Amino acid sequence: MSLVTFILLAVAATANAATGVATFNNYDAQSGVACSGFSSTNSQGNGIYAAALGDLSPLWTGSECSGSIDSSNCNGSGGCIDCTGPSCSGEGQCGQCFQISCAGSLDGETSGACTGNTIIVKIIDACPATHPENYCKLAEFGGNVPANQCCEAAGVNAFDIATTAQSALSTFQYNLNINIEAVSC
Ligand SMILES: *[C@@H]1O[C@H](CO)[C@@H](O)[C@H](O)[C@H]1NC(C)=O
Repeated sequence: MSLVTFILLAVAATANAATGVATFNNYDAQSGVACSGFSSTNSQGNGIYAAALGDLSPLWTGSECSGSIDSSNCNGSGGCIDCTGPSCSGEGQCGQCFQISCAGSLDGETSGACTGNTIIVKIIDACPATHPENYCKLAEFGGNVPANQCCEAAGVNAFDIATTAQSALSTFQYNLNINIEAVSC
């Protein structure tokens, strides 16, 4: 293989690679999802896990979710009073699969480790920055969750992944830095 060919292949191989953060959600306990035609279950079949993509993520395609940030929807200690979420009808990544691996603890946990395993997640939901359940967690509204752990950080790929995938990725207890690659399902 020539050096030029090698470099072109290397560029192609990394073209789909990205980094981001993972939080975890129990889809089995949720009533619905933003992507029409998908069910709110942790397992999406064939060993694939459910995930929501934050609408401020660079990987998000289509229009962001509707809605706005309104402090009157927050209870002042991290929760929401009116917890109605916005419409995310423009979400372009619905049904897309991504290969995810752990790149470390996001919270600075000192006990635990990445497993080294990769998993496949399928985007079935959105994690909207304009959802009160997200923005009310920010310190400015009385919460204590960092912006990159509640889908509020612009420029960060935010994946809210099925809780059942947690132990496959790491032995950390909480949120993770992740490596991300778009793959076919
Ligand atoms: C605000 O909401 C959170 C989350 O639901 C709850 O834990 C907390 O007790 C609420 N605080 C007040 C002051 O209502």
